[in-house]
Amino acid sequence: MDGVSERPEMFEGVDTVWQDGEFVDFEDATTHVLTHGLHYGTGVFEGVRCYDTANGPAIFRWEEHLQRLYDSAKVYDIEIPFEQAELSEATLELIRREELQSCYIRPIAYYGYGPLGLNPSKSPVETAIAVWPWGAYLGEEALEEGVDVAISSWRKHASSQIPTNAKTTGAYVNSVLANLEATGNGYTEAIVLNKEGNVAEGPGENIFLVRDGEIHTPGLAESILDGITRQSVIDLAEDLGYTVHEGATISRGELYTADELFFSGTAAEVTPIRSVDDNEIGAGTKGPVTDEIQTRFFDVLDEAPEQYDDWFTYV
Ligand SMILES: Cc1ncc(COP(=O)(O)O)c(C=O)c1O
Repeated sequence: MDGVSERPEMFEGVDTVWQDGEFVDFEDATTHVLTHGLHYGTGVFEGVRCYDTANGPAIFRWEEHLQRLYDSAKVYDIEIPFEQAELSEATLELIRREELQSCYIRPIAYYGYGPLGLNPSKSPVETAIAVWPWGAYLGEEALEEGVDVAISSWRKHASSQIPTNAKTTGAYVNSVLANLEATGNGYTEAIVLNKEGNVAEGPGENIFLVRDGEIHTPGLAESILDGITRQSVIDLAEDLGYTVHEGATISRGELYTADELFFSGTAAEVTPIRSVDDNEIGAGTKGPVTDEIQTRFFDVLDEAPEQYDDWFTYV
C-alpha cells in the first residue's frame, strides 16, 4: 500500500494508533492474516464519541462503554491484558496527541495470531484503539429530515444463538447483511425484526416509537444491544417528563401507524425515521417529540450541564 494517498478519506490526517500498549504510526497498525479474530470473528469492540463541549473535549459515557467492552470480552473468555484505567488513559492520550476536539473512538480486543482452530485459548489477546474525526453517520440532512428505512428480510439472531448484549465483531455480519439489503434497495437504513417477528433494532441503532405522547422502545429480551445512547435517551426523555416504556414489544404493524419513530446510537445519535417500507410515519418529517429529545440530546452534548456531569470524561 502506498501510504496516505490510498487511505480511506475518513482516516486522512490520523497519525497514530494505540496498539498493544504502544503508540504506533497509523501505517504500522497492522495484524497478521492468520489472526484468529479475522477467521472466526472472535473480537469485541466499542464505538464511542468524544464531543467538543463548552468545558472542552469530553468522551460521552466513557465508563459505560469501557464496561460494556469488558463485559463483551467476558462472554468470549477474552482476557484483555490491560486494566480498564490503562485503556482509558491510552485513549485520552491518543486524542490529545491527535489534537482532536471531537472524534469517534474505536477500541477493539480480539484473539490474535496463534494456532488456528475454533478454540482460541492459545491465541494472544490483541488490543487496539483508533480515533478519527467523524460527522453525522447517516448524514447531516438525516438529522433534520429523517431517514427512509425498510424492514430487513434478515432476522436478528436470538441471544441463545449469539449473545446480543455483547458487541462482538463476528456478530456484525447480521448487521452488514441488513444494511447491504436496505441500501441496495435505495433506503438509508434497515430495521431488523427478531426471531419472533417483533421489532428488534437497526443494524447499528436502537429504535424508539412515539404514540399518544408516550415513548416505547424494545426491551433487552428482544435481542437488542443494550445501547448506551438508548439509556441516555430514556433518561433525558424521563427528565423532560415523558413516560418511557423501555421493555416494550413492538410489532411491525405498529411501526407503520406510529406517530413518530427515531433511531438512537453512538454513530446515529438521535435520527428521525420518516418512512418505513415507503409508509410515511406521522407527517413524514421529524415529529415534535423526536425534535424535543434530539434538541435536548445535542444541547446536553454541547453544554455538558452539571446535571449530567457523570456522563462526561474530559480529555
Ligand atoms: C446493533 C446495535 N444496536 C444498537 C446500537 C447503539 O448502541 P450505542 O448507543 O451504545 O452506540 C449499536 C451501536 O453500537 C449497534 O451496533
